Amino acid sequence: MQTEVLVVDSQKPEPAAIARTAGVLRRGGLVAFPTETVYGLGANALDAAAVERIFAAKGRPAENPLIVHVADETAARALVTDWPERAARLAARFWPGPLTLVLPRREVVPDVVTAGGMTVGIRVPSHPVALALIRAAGVPVAAPSANRSTNISPTRAEHVLKGLDGRIDMLLDGGPCPGGVESTVLDLTGESPAILRPGLVSPGEIASELALPVRIDVATEQGGPQRSPGRQARHYAPAVPLELADDDGWRRVQALSQQGARIGWLALELPSEAEFGRVNAVFMPRDPASYAAALYAQLHALEDAGVERIVVACPPEDEAWLAVRDRLRRAAHPD
Ligand code: TXA
Ligand code: MG
Repeated sequence: MQTEVLVVDSQKPEPAAIARTAGVLRRGGLVAFPTETVYGLGANALDAAAVERIFAAKGRPAENPLIVHVADETAARALVTDWPERAARLAARFWPGPLTLVLPRREVVPDVVTAGGMTVGIRVPSHPVALALIRAAGVPVAAPSANRSTNISPTRAEHVLKGLDGRIDMLLDGGPCPGGVESTVLDLTGESPAILRPGLVSPGEIASELALPVRIDVATEQGGPQRSPGRQARHYAPAVPLELADDDGWRRVQALSQQGARIGWLALELPSEAEFGRVNAVFMPRDPASYAAALYAQLHALEDAGVERIVVACPPEDEAWLAVRDRLRRAAHPD
């Protein structure tokens, strides 16, 4: 299969390009497109055969459910049996945007989308290209991140091609994704709301909108049925081993490079005695939003530069860094 790449304006995507791409989706094809978080790999969510092709292209295990992307709240409600007050409040406050709500699904949603489960994850993305595409397609769009399973998510069109060139029908290249890490996944089916995956919407923002405590339920699970399989320990991982230092990482970087290894280092500040030699040092932004926006692109770049190991300076402990720490912890898991 030849993957056709269409470059579009990220703010005002050309209607002809959107219409053509929407037609590919409606006919059961696979289309990668930018969102405000990462690039997604979309298929018509109501077409089980099309959704199965997503799993095949990614090499994704069938037990990992997909997020369904819709144009607005009305379209979201058509997919669920219950639309609680909590969902209405969160949708009004955070949609379009990087918050995925997990709710009881209706039968119209095929089993392959929910991995056989009784719930479905739904969000309205805010990226103009994603929204225009979903509107033009006129169907809900199931879309995981547009990478091979377990690899780093793509935040630029070239990252998508690295993993999926020749395996998907089309790629809409709308430039870099502004957010850089995936949406917050919030389970609204239990007594209290539970964050299954931290993301760009913080627990504090959700709790204050609902005037309720929010559980953070992101412990990695091993074996057994998984409520949110994205929590599997190794996920979002670069092809080279990554370790998370418990300090700035500089001593570890020096020790490893003295053994002759070519090391990539995601640092937060410049050590005064710096002498980098063969070390690929990257100075990351010190505010969490800019760090998140840069993270996957820097990991892809280090991978492409051929480093043998990546050492990451420990980011701060506060809540603003929760999503970044979560992704780094998973990327660092040894197997
Ligand atoms: O920002 C994002 O969410 C991106 C863009 C493309 O929208 N998508 C994304 O999809 O990250 P994916 O498939 O890479 O991750 C989806 C996450 C997984 O952790 C999955 O287990 C969880 O959402 N998920 C999806 N449906 C679920 C459900 N019904 N119950 C619990 N977790 C669910
Ligand atoms: Mg993913």
